[in-house]
Amino acid sequence: MRIGSPGYTECLGSVRINDVQQVLELDSGRVKELPLRENIAVQKIEEEVIKDFEERMAIIIPIKDEKLKLFEGVISGVPHECPIIVVSNSQRRRVDRFRMEKDALKQFCHFTRREALIIHQKDPVLARALAEVGYTDILGEDELIRDGKAEGMIAAMLVAMAAKKDFVGFIDADNYFPGAVWEYARCYASGFSMAKSPHSMVRILWRYKPKISVGMFFNRWGRVSEITNKCMNSLISNKTGLETEIIKTGNAGEHAMSLGLAEILTYASGYAVEPQELISIFEGFGGILPMVHPADAKHGIEIFQTETRNPHLHEEKGGRHLLVEMLLPSLGSIYHSPLCEEETKRLIINELLQQNAIKPDEEPPRPRLIAPLRTINMKKFTSVMTEHMNSYSALE
Ligand code: GDD
Ligand code: MG
Repeated sequence: MRIGSPGYTECLGSVRINDVQQVLELDSGRVKELPLRENIAVQKIEEEVIKDFEERMAIIIPIKDEKLKLFEGVISGVPHECPIIVVSNSQRRRVDRFRMEKDALKQFCHFTRREALIIHQKDPVLARALAEVGYTDILGEDELIRDGKAEGMIAAMLVAMAAKKDFVGFIDADNYFPGAVWEYARCYASGFSMAKSPHSMVRILWRYKPKISVGMFFNRWGRVSEITNKCMNSLISNKTGLETEIIKTGNAGEHAMSLGLAEILTYASGYAVEPQELISIFEGFGGILPMVHPADAKHGIEIFQTETRNPHLHEEKGGRHLLVEMLLPSLGSIYHSPLCEEETKRLIINELLQQNAIKPDEEPPRPRLIAPLRTINMKKFTSVMTEHMNSYSALE
């Protein structure tokens, strides 16, 4: 794979935020023993290197009642080397959709001779294991894991930690293009191969957002991320004293992290999860608030933003007011950060008023925060979980 080097890098304390990198070649050919001339504007990541990182990276697929055909397409696009972890919150009653997903995954693993895991978000054993280690932030009143993609992501990250993976990459199950899935995973692996720090994150930016019949949907979506990025950049600008537009992936659902980084971040429920990850990084390592993890700050945190080639087309979930559903929590995570000063707060209020998302005397909601995974006693958690995991290995 060949990727452009980041044009520039913005630093905030020990956080290095790289500008957007473009995919130049999805396949950059064989290893050349003697490169003709080194070109620092471009990075060639060899196939073997990509495979080495893919092997260490679990691809987490959150799913809730998606069309089975879409799910089958998505798993077919995950590179062979990546172990797959599916976290499902699909219905089990009238039609057991979880069972169907499980069967599809099992069949896929059987024919492709690969490894995957599937867990149900409402699995009582999983919830009990969490309660036993005192990690209750994602548990609901019924003592099971709450609904939500963010809660599913966290449960799946725990499974990846128990499986001793080094990286996790998230890919939604409602993606229409297996080729895009394949590209995301390669971009994640490439980003990690470029990282100098064990604490790194890769966030995807889509080049094409097809409009087809869902134009309004994408327009609104584009508008939401534009506003989130603007407010996030305002926060950074006010800290560094230099105006910046470095953040272009504030809402990136498709993103990946080293588990070393993933386990020390504070998360948030709902659509606040992705912006909150960045906010947690700035709070923890931006050099403004006291360092909570000084040992982790030693190598710094690296953020990569990669623009992919495949168009991104996903399922339209009708009837949702995305502007409010996505914008309010996204901006809430920025607004309620102790890093957020008056100017950015004013900007957020103005943006929300302009979008009719709040009334003049209102503020965006405070995000529902979820404690870092490092607080969990993994040994205890793993022992409760081990016997329960539904593993489909190639040898089954
Ligand atoms: N496990 C689990 N649990 N999965 C869920 C749940 C849940 O409660 N709710 C939704 N999902 C799955 C969906 O089936 C899909 O695969 C994925 O999570 C994303 O959900 P969507 O409902 O399709 O989200 P979206 O398209 O509105 O938003 C996506 O893009 C945003 C912007 O990039 C998500 O990735 C957001 O997290 C992201 O902010
Ligand atoms: Mg979607």
